[in-house]
Amino acid sequence: MPTLERVHTERLSAPDDLAGFKAAVRRLVAQQLAPQSVQWQMAGDGDLFDDGSLPEIQPGRGTAAAAPFRLPAEMVSLFDNAALHADPGRFALLYRLVWRLLAEPGLRDDPLDADRLLAERMARAVRRDMHKMTAFVRFRPLPGNRHMAWFEPEHHTLVATAPFFARRFAQMHWAILTPGRSATWDGHALAFGPGARREDAPGPDAGEQLWLTYYAHIFNPARLKPAMMQKEMPRRYWKNLPEAQLIAPLMHEAMQRSGRMVEEAASDPQHRRPAASIALRLDQRPAETAAPGTLDALRLATAACRACPIGQHATQAVHGEGQPGAALMLVGEQPGDQEDLRGQPFVGPAGQLLRRALEQLGWSRDALYLTNAVKHFKYELRGKRRLHKTAGQKEAAICSQWLEREIALVQPRAAIALGATAARSLLGRPVAIGASRGQWLRRADGLPVLVTLHPAALLRMEAPDPEAAFADWLADLRAAAPIMAGDEEPADRPPQPDGRHRATGPGGVARRPG
Ligand code: URA
Repeated sequence: MPTLERVHTERLSAPDDLAGFKAAVRRLVAQQLAPQSVQWQMAGDGDLFDDGSLPEIQPGRGTAAAAPFRLPAEMVSLFDNAALHADPGRFALLYRLVWRLLAEPGLRDDPLDADRLLAERMARAVRRDMHKMTAFVRFRPLPGNRHMAWFEPEHHTLVATAPFFARRFAQMHWAILTPGRSATWDGHALAFGPGARREDAPGPDAGEQLWLTYYAHIFNPARLKPAMMQKEMPRRYWKNLPEAQLIAPLMHEAMQRSGRMVEEAASDPQHRRPAASIALRLDQRPAETAAPGTLDALRLATAACRACPIGQHATQAVHGEGQPGAALMLVGEQPGDQEDLRGQPFVGPAGQLLRRALEQLGWSRDALYLTNAVKHFKYELRGKRRLHKTAGQKEAAICSQWLEREIALVQPRAAIALGATAARSLLGRPVAIGASRGQWLRRADGLPVLVTLHPAALLRMEAPDPEAAFADWLADLRAAAPIMAGDEEPADRPPQPDGRHRATGPGGVARRPG
């Protein structure tokens, strides 16, 4: 008569109890309990299959027949990841693998073994889940500078992923709620608690509108690849992503736009007009001649510039926009894809964000001059796409002659450097934007320069609270409000020892000599 195999039940305190699992594996191996004699349960699971025929094995009990063992490093990381998979059979599989690795050393070198393949597939899914969490968690602000996010991971990945958020958002107090677990960070330590319900997390609020606006701005129909987009941002995450509600209408609009672009025979970015043809075109257009010493003459001269290689590949030079005598000059890095095609600064996504900021500040366009440190679009071709490439220091230095001539013709009362390239070109030295943002620095000619982030940096930033990031940026820009208001500037304040002028309101900006 066949004997009924007796089964031992091993209980773990939670589905992500990695330490408990490892301790149990060591104990079970020491007790020589074969995988088929062990079943795994999580606290809270029913005892349906537990026949109770074996006593619980306590740490330290048993025969300890097997010597202590060590798994190869790549196996340890495979186990750490696969153990967090949602499949209820994962612990049985992983224990079987340990058991077999000890008995069949050749298994280490058999990448096609079915157990190994399955464990690797689980580990990959877990890594992907962790990655998705880092990309798709959206914190919402709560009173008291606290933030909370709701997320539904596919696997038991919150505990393993939380340190990423603690590093990234170290200054914030935040909580991430998931159905299985919650994590909180108080600025010093991580703590984990039970799972939560979606209703426990804050719903959409006004701040979300800003994030939606960002998303709509950075959504580039030319780069729309719906299949790829859904692969990167699978539909299951959409319900918790504020921007997801925009995807369908933006896709629809993008398709209509691409239809129109095809009808209009869109420009082919791979066939740029060579420099000579631009010069010829300019020569052939009498209306393009301009009185010397004017911004128009400067625009024509800039268009013909080939002092560095960038101009060879761009569609056209993008000159500044505004009138001589504008109170404030805003200087960006270089034209982007859309600016290059349209020949105007700040008309693409970063420009839209900038224009939105200017609207909120109530700054009249007539009092502004918008330009860039570098006048041609530098890019690299990736397939048919032109990806922005930051101009090199040499290229920016060569191009600064055009910016200097713009400053001389416009004679602004102050300038704002949007980002590091602009700050370096305006001030002639490298400037750490993080440390100097919101501060007035002074050029050798006395022109006060307010330093802040480039709008593209805000669009790229994975800020937990985009509204707050935008508000900080507006606060930086607002330091130039007295210039825009035409306030009489107070007498020169002596520069601080490091040459800085802290933006403290109207008093922070000194009059420009001459
Ligand atoms: N970024 C810039 O720096 N300038 C532009 O004109 C557009 C994007």
